[in-house]
Amino acid sequence: MPGTKLTVVVTRRLPEAVETRLKELFDVELNTSDTPFSRAELVSAMQRADVLVPTLNDHIDAGALAQSGERLRLIANYGAGVDHIDVQTARQRGILVSNTPGVLTDDTADMTMALILTVMRRFKEGSNIMQSGQWDGWAPSALLGQRVGGKRLGILGMGRIGQAVARRAKPFGLQIHYHNRKKVHAAIETELEATYWESLDQMLSRVDILSINCPHTPSTFHLLNARRLKLMKPSAFVVNTSRGEVIDENAFTRMLRAGELAGAGLDVFEHGTEVNPRLRGLDNVMLLPHMGSATEEGRLEMGEKVLINIKTFADGHRPPDQVVPAML
Ligand code: DGY
Repeated sequence: MPGTKLTVVVTRRLPEAVETRLKELFDVELNTSDTPFSRAELVSAMQRADVLVPTLNDHIDAGALAQSGERLRLIANYGAGVDHIDVQTARQRGILVSNTPGVLTDDTADMTMALILTVMRRFKEGSNIMQSGQWDGWAPSALLGQRVGGKRLGILGMGRIGQAVARRAKPFGLQIHYHNRKKVHAAIETELEATYWESLDQMLSRVDILSINCPHTPSTFHLLNARRLKLMKPSAFVVNTSRGEVIDENAFTRMLRAGELAGAGLDVFEHGTEVNPRLRGLDNVMLLPHMGSATEEGRLEMGEKVLINIKTFADGHRPPDQVVPAML
């Protein structure tokens, strides 16, 4: 591989500086129109590329991988989540997968805090009143939300992003509780004064806010099913900046509409852009279009990670952010 110029196909527009550097280093095909690839276009790209740079919108499942060309050797994902890629099948076909962890942690954690504050303090309703021109002045009883300080925040998934959420939440006076496959290091628990719940069910029944920060994997699909959601207090809020598939969106929507949960801040949805229409129009639900990592700095750093992963691979080494099935 060293010495040869790799053909790199990129499925969406990336920051200009990243595209420029890709052009300098590789034989690159950019998607200048930024139109999402159809399935056929994706498969065709996988047939002519040495390296594919997809995003979370490209479903690289076993069927697509089965049709990929012999030359495809690396899928350098632009993003941290790899639930749209069948990493196991890729590995069996000798195709490496890399991602962009770490550089979107702070931006996603900031967004999580913003959603917690927004839903607990009813900022969406306040903004709607201002936008409609209907505000008739301050009133002692208007738009009362919930004080954030002193409440219990349950973090589902205490990886990089979960910990970054906890670090932000603690100075707001939130008490940190978490559920994770395993306990985090004792020093981190001490720093965050975090309480570990081995049982997710038990944690759910005790928290005032739940922040979802675990990846979507086969074992977290619908982890928050109807049964578990019903364990939560009706006064509790749910914030999801991870992946929509972790929640049974239909059951969740029914509960929000029935007042069995207090509200939600959602940046991700079970069926991607097909957002359940019954989630719309609820004053206590803030919906955002998957903006967690949407900062200029974050998107540039994600691109830099992609570049490093491809360049390292081109130089004959393993990409530093290689994802292997055991990590999922
Ligand atoms: C990721 O990188 O997986 C994020 O969801 C994109 O914001």
